[in-house]
Amino acid sequence: MSIRISPSILNCDFSDLQGELGKISNADWAHVDVMDGHFVPNLTIGVPVVEAIARVSPVPIDCHLMIENPDIWAPQYVEAGGSSVTFHAEAAQAPLRLARELRKMGARAGIALKPATPIEPYLDILNEFDMLLIMTVEPGFGGQSFIDTMMPKVQRARAAVEKSGLDIWIQVDGGISRKTIEIAADAGADTFVAGSAVYKSADAYAEVAALRELAQGHCH
Ligand code: DX5
Ligand code: ZN
Repeated sequence: MSIRISPSILNCDFSDLQGELGKISNADWAHVDVMDGHFVPNLTIGVPVVEAIARVSPVPIDCHLMIENPDIWAPQYVEAGGSSVTFHAEAAQAPLRLARELRKMGARAGIALKPATPIEPYLDILNEFDMLLIMTVEPGFGGQSFIDTMMPKVQRARAAVEKSGLDIWIQVDGGISRKTIEIAADAGADTFVAGSAVYKSADAYAEVAALRELAQGHCH
């Protein structure tokens, strides 16, 4: 099983997005957190900035939309250059229609679950998605502590994905660092978002490499 490292730029220096993205050229994706001040109590960036990021990023863009009304807004993030667009299950009115629309536009479609949202309702419709994002913090802010009680949910997701035979990625996001990435990999995650671990370190490139090595040693 291959693993992917997707550093979140939420904690990078926003006055130098191009320079900050340049530091993670050894990553697989750049994770871009879009927050609207409604779905989560924080406001970050929107379509024009994602467009600018996509123009200068050395790696494809993994958009994580923490917004209300993704049914209306999410397609714009594909147009802006998001190669993967993930919306929240709690916010979508018609998640299947939306995932199909995103895929039709040529993007990977992801569905994200907050910590208290069960995975079970989605297990029968796995084929509609390219990625399941299991939040390991309450969405809204970088730098929070990893919630390890999410690991049974990751394990159940992994078992269902294996049973389905489909190539669906399982992403974990929140509090992923050298201390926690192996726990998440052991549980069955294969796609790892790390924000502060990468951008608060002295050498973002080296941190991506270190996280990759740790995860690779623990993937199934
Ligand atoms: C949280 C965001 C995360 C966050 C991760 O709402 O979705 O992507 O930036 O940051 P760390 O790795 O610092 O928890
Ligand atoms: Zn995120």
